[in-house]
Amino acid sequence: MILKDFLDRLAEIDAGASALIENAATADSLEAVRTSLVGRKSGALSALIKELPSLSPEERPQGGSAANLVKMAIEHALEKRAVEISSADRKQSAVDLTLPARHLWKGGKHPVTLVIEEIEEIFRELGFTIALGPEAETEWYNFGALNFPPDHPAMDMHDTLYLDDGVLLRTHTSPVQIRTLQTYKPPIRILAPGNVYRRDFFDASHAPVFAQLEGLAVDEDISFVDLKATVTHFAKRFFGATRTRFRPSFFPFTEPSAEMDIECTMCKGSGCPACGNSGWTEIFGSGMVHPSVLDTSGVDSERYTGWAFGMGPGRMAMQRYRIPDIRLLYDSDMRFLEQLAG
Ligand code: PHE
Repeated sequence: MILKDFLDRLAEIDAGASALIENAATADSLEAVRTSLVGRKSGALSALIKELPSLSPEERPQGGSAANLVKMAIEHALEKRAVEISSADRKQSAVDLTLPARHLWKGGKHPVTLVIEEIEEIFRELGFTIALGPEAETEWYNFGALNFPPDHPAMDMHDTLYLDDGVLLRTHTSPVQIRTLQTYKPPIRILAPGNVYRRDFFDASHAPVFAQLEGLAVDEDISFVDLKATVTHFAKRFFGATRTRFRPSFFPFTEPSAEMDIECTMCKGSGCPACGNSGWTEIFGSGMVHPSVLDTSGVDSERYTGWAFGMGPGRMAMQRYRIPDIRLLYDSDMRFLEQLAG
């Protein structure tokens, strides 16, 4: 072979190589291009280089170094293209459409919320509406207007969480009675759910923060019979066949006062930690609204009478779902909550 032919064929290979390399889209097709150009057995350039000995000894070095330059350029282009292809592959695989979907967390309602909603529904049917009041309450609404004498033990620093002079975290939802009576004219039928705060130890049946549900009915000719009939109807609806009892009690803002207990659903009356070993669980305090509470709130106690109750939906949730320890309602343990979530 003469040098001119050698260089012509070399130029041909060189000219075709860059298009072949650029058009290779995958690692496999690039490998095929590499084999066809510089593969030891069948590569076009390798085959040409094998022809070098047929050049004359004077022309051989020139042909050899020209062929080497082209070979280096091709190998460089192959390497560059290989890097491009593999980084494009990696970008694509960042989104793996075959991965299973992530577990979807679905929220659920807390058992105490479920109980409050169920109670609200029963009383809604009886014509009650929902009323709300502030959790940071004044001493006057929380105690004074409710007929607590100034030295009542509930007002003690040991029992109540004070925020500021005359302001405290309400110890019950009864102040909503006063706020409602001041705002609306009878007939009044409200249910007031919300959190209340007491300096209580956290044990199986007490918590320093808990939900209450206040009920209030004020109208002409409301009597104790209305109270008893209403709460008995409620207890049947909510607890079904569970036994209930009504027993005399005392609250400064009701006269007469009574408490309703239900037979402990956990021990069936034989006594357990959840019911303080009494066999009964107190569900609410209640009574006829004290005339001085009506008068203090601007409602004529000669014309109107009323009844009120304050329930503990947390205790009711414990009975309903047989939860042996009130602290379970505060732990936010998903294994527990998931069993009851609505
Ligand atoms: N507020 C009382 C308590 O927290 C409950 C109650 C409400 C009693 C309404 C009578 C009437 O113990």
